[in-house]
Amino acid sequence: MLVHVPQVLSPEQVAHVRGVLADTNWVDGKVTAGAQSAGAKHNLQVPEDAPAARALGDIILSALGRNPLFNAAALPLRVFPPLFNRYDAGMEFGAHIDNSIRFVKPSIASGAPIRVRTDMSATLFLTDPDDYDGGELVIEDTYGSHGVKLPAGDMLLYSATSRHHVTKVTRGSRWSSFFWVQSMIRDEAARTTLFEMDTAIQGLRSRHGDESEIVSLTGLYHNLVRRWADV
Ligand code: NI
Repeated sequence: MLVHVPQVLSPEQVAHVRGVLADTNWVDGKVTAGAQSAGAKHNLQVPEDAPAARALGDIILSALGRNPLFNAAALPLRVFPPLFNRYDAGMEFGAHIDNSIRFVKPSIASGAPIRVRTDMSATLFLTDPDDYDGGELVIEDTYGSHGVKLPAGDMLLYSATSRHHVTKVTRGSRWSSFFWVQSMIRDEAARTTLFEMDTAIQGLRSRHGDESEIVSLTGLYHNLVRRWADV
């Protein structure tokens, strides 16, 4: 599943996030890579426990909490504290699949480390496509490769089981936030079914209001969530 979530952040929020990041200390992106992906990863990141990263991450988390499309598509149980990366000219990230389990550092989680099973990956774009060349996020699935470049403030949500890469930036600098979601619905097919059902019900409700059958369908949706969700 590939879902484009538009305008997670407003232009003002994007400007604020970029302003804070501009004054931040960036380190080699290999710090959060697994053994295989470390060899393929050439970018810069803000350390995950940097106070600036946490403050900006909280802005993103509260925006996600209010976003109906994100919540319908991901049915989130846990969201990894958002990280921030940057690809300057010449930087890229070769093909890889994200680690299956991520640990939130105890210094961030205030106590025991929290484990997040990465069901979905998210990239929130912070640079407008006109401001850089290359830097496409390419996701491979059974239908082939999908190259994605979204306006600043928009987010791509995709299955963390998919192989993906970021092509080399040839002009400018591509900034983004990235993180993972553990869904209440572990099974990807079930999660996709629920999202499609939810979308269809919302469409029916907007045209017909709460007719009896729509109330029944809504109840069925919730009964399936109840049956399949781990919380
Ligand atoms: Ni990745």
